[in-house]
Amino acid sequence: MRDYEAWAEFGDVLRLPIDPERDVAASIPWEQAGFQAHLPLIDVGPGSGVTTVVLAETFPDAEIVAVEPDLLMRSLLMTRLAERSGVRERTTVLPGVIQETWLPAECGGALLFNVIYFLGERERERFWHRMADVLVPGASVLMSRSYGGAGEVDVERKLVSSGTVGRHEYQRWYASHALGDGRVEIINQFQVLRDGEVVRDEETRITPYGLGEDRIVDEIPVGAFGIEEIDERYLAIRRHPDLARRKRR
Ligand SMILES: C[S@@+](CC[C@H](N)C(=O)[O-])C[C@H]1O[C@@H](n2cnc3c(N)ncnc32)[C@H](O)[C@@H]1O
Repeated sequence: MRDYEAWAEFGDVLRLPIDPERDVAASIPWEQAGFQAHLPLIDVGPGSGVTTVVLAETFPDAEIVAVEPDLLMRSLLMTRLAERSGVRERTTVLPGVIQETWLPAECGGALLFNVIYFLGERERERFWHRMADVLVPGASVLMSRSYGGAGEVDVERKLVSSGTVGRHEYQRWYASHALGDGRVEIINQFQVLRDGEVVRDEETRITPYGLGEDRIVDEIPVGAFGIEEIDERYLAIRRHPDLARRKRR
C-alpha cells in the first residue's frame, strides 16, 4: 500500500476528533503568526484538509487557497469542503506543487504544517522564493517544527494512535531508522482489529529527508524573511519589507 493510500483511508479516523493534548492543529498560534486575513491565506500541503478547515474557521472572512498535489488527499479535501458551505465558497483548491502553482499576487500568510520535510533541497529553495514573491511585508509562513523524524531516528516500533469505527479498532504502529544518507525510513503499520483480533494489516514505508532545524533555518533567504520562534512547536518566518517590491507598486 502506498503511504498516501494508507493516510487517505486511516488518517482521519486515527486523528479525529482532534485531541488538544496530542494534535498540534488544536493549538496553532494564530495570533503570534499575525496573518493578514484581508488577503488570501495559503494552506500548503493540507492533506485531507483538517488544517484547511481550522484555518478557515479561525479566519471566517478570509479567502483560503489550499495547495495539495496528491490526488487522494485532494479528493478527501474536496469532500470535506463540499460538506461545509461556509468554507467551500471562499476556498480555492490548487492541484499543483507549492513551488510552481499559480497563487494570488498578494497573500497575507501561509500555513506550513508537517510539510517542509516532503520537499527536496531545490524544492525548498523554490518554495522560499515563491513565498517571498507573494507574501506582503509583515505576513508570515507559520511553520510547524516537524522535520521528518530528525532527532528521533531509530525509534523502536510503538503504538502511536488508535480509533474506532463501528466494530473495528484501527491502530497505527510507528518505527523509524536513519538510512545514513540524510534520509530516515519511517515504517507505519496500520492494523484493523475486530473483537481483539487483527483482521487486516497494512504497512507503508517512506524515506523523507530527516532535516535538522539548523539546516531548514539556514536555507531561508535572510534578505527576504525574519525568523521568529513562537514556541517549541512553531516558527514564524516573516516577510521583510522589500525595497524592490515597494518600487514596483
Ligand atoms: C504529512 S501531510 C500534512 C497534511 C496537513 N498539513 C496536516 O498536517 O494535516 C504532507 C502533505 O504535503 C503535501 N505535499 C508534498 N509535497 C508538496 C508540495 N511540493 N507542495 C504542496 N504540498 C505538498 C503532501 O501531498 C501531503 O498531503
